[in-house]
Amino acid sequence: MDKVTYNGLTFEPYLTRDEIALQVKRVAEEIRRDYGNANPMFLCVLKGAAIFAVDLFRECGIKDSEITFIRFKSYSGTSTTGAAKQIMGLDEEIEGRTVIVVEDIVDTGITAQQLMEDLAKKNPKEVKIASLLFKPDSLQTGVRPDYIGFSIPPKFIIGYGLDIDGQARNLQDIYVICEDKK
Ligand code: IMP
Ligand code: MG
Repeated sequence: MDKVTYNGLTFEPYLTRDEIALQVKRVAEEIRRDYGNANPMFLCVLKGAAIFAVDLFRECGIKDSEITFIRFKSYSGTSTTGAAKQIMGLDEEIEGRTVIVVEDIVDTGITAQQLMEDLAKKNPKEVKIASLLFKPDSLQTGVRPDYIGFSIPPKFIIGYGLDIDGQARNLQDIYVICEDKK
């Protein structure tokens, strides 16, 4: 695989589509084992988690499950703005339901923390977080994902839903920023 360039920044291959598919499958098996009979509501956090969420939702194959979407924004370019803003809200009733929040990545954890607080007010039975990627060294809150595809170092990545200013979400593999700017 070749390097790719966006916004004048160079990225190199990091996780292949096959490696991603394998971890999506494993996480799906864990969720099915834990919540296969719980009528779970998958809550996809747009936009980044869109691709992971639909793949995970289908891979779980839980008959009595639903998927819904919410939108948060926190990143500008390659760094977090430090505040997460809910742009599109949740219209489904989740009182008494098991909710599986699906995130593309938990970085500072600010988005996840904000969302957990918002959801708690709606009296769900329980809320779990499934994140394809987790940057443990960037975490600034107490929120850790319950299901994790990959734990990675705190470097900026793109692809498989993750963007740089709206670009690169359609890359099928995940790429990491080159630090030597080759
Ligand atoms: P947090 O609130 O800092 O945990 O970040 C949450 C959001 O920031 C994620 O849902 C992503 O949309 C975005 N984000 C964090 N790290 C990256 C990255 O390496 N590449 C692209 N987007 C990222
Ligand atoms: Mg996002």
